[in-house]
Amino acid sequence: MEIRTILLQTRTTVERNLISKYNTPGPRYTSYPTVPYWDIKGFNIEGWNDSVRQSFKQDDQGISIYIHLPYCESLCTFCGCNKRITKNHSVEAPYIDALIREWQQYLSLFSTVPRIQEIHLGGGTPTFFSSDNLSRLISAISDSAEILPNATLGLEGHPNSTTLEQLKTLRTLGFNRVSYGIQCFDPKVQLAINRVQTIDQVKAITDISRSLNYSSINYDIIYGLPHQTLQSIDLTVHEVIKLRPDRIAFYSYAHVPWIKGNGQRKFTEADLPNASDKLELYTLGKQKLLDAGYIEIGMDHFALPSDTLSTSYHEGRLHRNFMGYTEDHSRLMIGLGVSAISDSWFGFAQNVKSVEDYLAHIHNGESAVFRGHLLTEEDLMIREHILDLMCHFQTNIPELSQQPDILDRLAEPLRDNLIALDDDQIRITSEGRPFLRNICMAFDLRLWADQPQTQLFSMTV
Ligand SMILES: C[S@@+](CC[C@H](N)C(=O)[O-])C[C@H]1O[C@@H](n2cnc3c(N)ncnc32)[C@H](O)[C@@H]1O
Ligand code: SF4
Repeated sequence: MEIRTILLQTRTTVERNLISKYNTPGPRYTSYPTVPYWDIKGFNIEGWNDSVRQSFKQDDQGISIYIHLPYCESLCTFCGCNKRITKNHSVEAPYIDALIREWQQYLSLFSTVPRIQEIHLGGGTPTFFSSDNLSRLISAISDSAEILPNATLGLEGHPNSTTLEQLKTLRTLGFNRVSYGIQCFDPKVQLAINRVQTIDQVKAITDISRSLNYSSINYDIIYGLPHQTLQSIDLTVHEVIKLRPDRIAFYSYAHVPWIKGNGQRKFTEADLPNASDKLELYTLGKQKLLDAGYIEIGMDHFALPSDTLSTSYHEGRLHRNFMGYTEDHSRLMIGLGVSAISDSWFGFAQNVKSVEDYLAHIHNGESAVFRGHLLTEEDLMIREHILDLMCHFQTNIPELSQQPDILDRLAEPLRDNLIALDDDQIRITSEGRPFLRNICMAFDLRLWADQPQTQLFSMTV
């Protein structure tokens, strides 16, 4: 379908009005409560460790481990992740040593040998690290645990810096998933974000990953980047479809200028598409992905029908955590490394954000956790509702009879046809999907009890 035809079909006055009404700062709900609303004063390490012990005992699925590897060789100026830019690879070994020691701290909390259902290497750029160092890290974990036969082991790789040797080493250690940051193939956008990578580079690393039998390959692409136009999205999605990754995360660019470290930005706010243009970029990309046979999963993910993310979505097993959407439902996720967040279902805990502080804490035999939140019964109830909305686009009404404020806040989205009432369910309509974060905000009791005075979150559109 022509870009212009799609544009005319989608850009209605009604939609523009909806955008101006609902485009507000809002959380992405990778947790509830969201990080700025954690009750830090009510948190302590003993309570956190107890919640880990409790969750470990109740666990019947196996635990998940997220490992944050913060280094990158060069700075992409759009990036909102916690990263450290360096070309000095001598930083690798001490960081891996610290991760192994932190894992040992957690091992001391477990009453039996842990069974691992998932390991995810995130960053930063995990493929900054040599094969030997990655191997040392994973071996230290697997030697002290049981990796379940159906475990999902994945890594985030930068297409420009991932090597055959790294992929082979990790494959031998049981890794079966890889995610590549693509962002956008338009050369003008790539220049603006300081991230030049060619389609050929991406194709080459994808072919290598497939030849090694990585069973699920994901691409991250972003809409709303500086200088991005409908043509940029058309080109990017067209090329992505040709390479046919199993999954695609189609992220909204989160403009978070208050995140430090992106000072060398080569673009200004005037170079960013406005909210209405941004929604058009999304609509075009989404339509092309659907036409190519991808299935829309949750808020910003797409997967081929054969991928396990699609099957778990259809079977109602989808889950959302700090890593985004996942089909694994383990209730205990241990986060290792600088800035990593752990989730015991009953609590959250985040590690210190600077590499130096992290290394110092671990070196001194202390926990690297610097803040967290222990969930109340009410938090747990709201968490379930928000997870249901984010993962299944619906949630139960009956429990909400005790929450008149939430029902009041849903009246306007109901009038605007963003949600519908089916028996005892609230369902997000197709018109409402771009505003999913806004619907979740209606449930966010902590946000309403203490409205932010400064901007804490990126815009919802
Ligand atoms: C850790 S990076 C991926 C691995 C590797 N460092 C790379 O860049 O290829 C995680 C992903 O977060 C997404 N991301 C980072 N900053 C973002 C932002 N400000 N808005 C939306 N997505 C962002 C990008 O799509 C990126 O691929
Ligand atoms: S997008 Fe990836 S490579 Fe670029 S700075 Fe962020 S984490 Fe590093």
